Amino acid sequence: MADRKGASITWVDITWLIILAILAVLPPLNEIHKQIILVVIGLFQIFENRIIGRLSSGRRNAISVLVKTALATLLVWHSGEINSPYYPIYYLPVISAATLYGAMGTILWTLLACASYCAFLIPALQEYQLTIAGGAELALNISFFFLVAVIVNRFVIESRQQSLRREKLAETLSETSLLLEQAQADARRSERLAALGQLSAGLAHEIRNPLGVIRGSAEMLNGKLLQSDPVTAELAGYISSEAERLNHFVGRFLDFARPLQVKPEFQPITPLIDRALKTLQERWPDAKVAIERHDSPNLPLLPLDDELVERIFINLFANAFEAMPEGGSLRISVESAKRGGRRGVEVEVADTGPGIPQEQREQIFNPFFTTKKTGLGLGLSMVAKIMDDHKGWIRLTSEPGHGARFHLFFPGREQT
Ligand SMILES: Nc1ncnc2c1ncn2[C@@H]1O[C@H](COP(=O)(O)OP(=O)(O)O)[C@@H](O)[C@H]1O
Ligand SMILES: [Mg+2]
Repeated sequence: MADRKGASITWVDITWLIILAILAVLPPLNEIHKQIILVVIGLFQIFENRIIGRLSSGRRNAISVLVKTALATLLVWHSGEINSPYYPIYYLPVISAATLYGAMGTILWTLLACASYCAFLIPALQEYQLTIAGGAELALNISFFFLVAVIVNRFVIESRQQSLRREKLAETLSETSLLLEQAQADARRSERLAALGQLSAGLAHEIRNPLGVIRGSAEMLNGKLLQSDPVTAELAGYISSEAERLNHFVGRFLDFARPLQVKPEFQPITPLIDRALKTLQERWPDAKVAIERHDSPNLPLLPLDDELVERIFINLFANAFEAMPEGGSLRISVESAKRGGRRGVEVEVADTGPGIPQEQREQIFNPFFTTKKTGLGLGLSMVAKIMDDHKGWIRLTSEPGHGARFHLFFPGREQT
């Protein structure tokens, strides 16, 4: 009854009112004050939430039990004091306390109810003497208060613990399903990357050989015609220089497609970030990008291939610099983390550029996806590949207009 939320009257309230109405008209005492007190008790129980619902939960609970103890005492006082047949009304504050408090709170509130009841002994003892039978009866009544309080309290605590366990289980379940979804997305991306990598490797290889022949032949032609036919020689020169350009491009495809040789060594990650930042600042000495660093202390050593990991950060920072030609800030935070049951380090790279639209979030990790005029679109796919090879992952959270934010997780030592 204590945690009723709704303000509307339910069938429980109606039943409760009927019981109190019967109590009010039933003998042994048919008196208006008793009836009024019973009505007040009923109304307070039903409208408790409206009356004191706005208070903090600690105050609300205390006031609820106090008011009920006071009303119970009033009823007992009006209906025969220590001999009142209505003394079981004290079960109301006792049970309320048992549902609202822990074991110690319940005992204390029950003690208060007992003390209020026993206080009626003081005037009674001035007129009568307490017989052994009377004392025993009083002790019995009080014992039942405690018995009920303890039983209800145990039951409530158990059900509270159960619902807590259920809540925790539901939380873990939703966390696990989120992890599963992310892992599936990562796996899809890896498969796509691997397939595209193989395809481009095959293509590049097939293109490279004839390209070599074309270039060689054009060079020879150029050499032979240079004296006799300079115009044709110039054309042959174009063929050879364009073939060279194509060859360079194909070389980059191949770089991307070639399986990476990862040589991990245990080392701290922050010096690699520092090195990448230095490279970028040398590349864009005039960039108006403020760098913010947050490195947690006591970061663990990680199995990293320094050259590849540096390449990850160079690519990410380059994208961030390119996304903020007018300036902005680049925040890099590094902290120990536990993800999916693995311990490691999470690096967050966040810029204040335009961010990445929702529809491009999956695509940006695909090879050759670029929105830049001179971009190749290989940076992020390379980053994703290196992260895969380090058994980590990279994820993007970017709200359009609030910059791009990449999270990278590097697992540490294999868990024992
Ligand atoms: N920090 C960033 N802010 C905005 N867009 C980004 C950011 N990083 C990557 N992108 C988007 O992802 C695309 C792919 O990036 P990338 O693979 O590095 O290739 P490239 O830089 O050659 O375009 C970019 O063209 C850009 O549209
Ligand atoms: Mg790039």
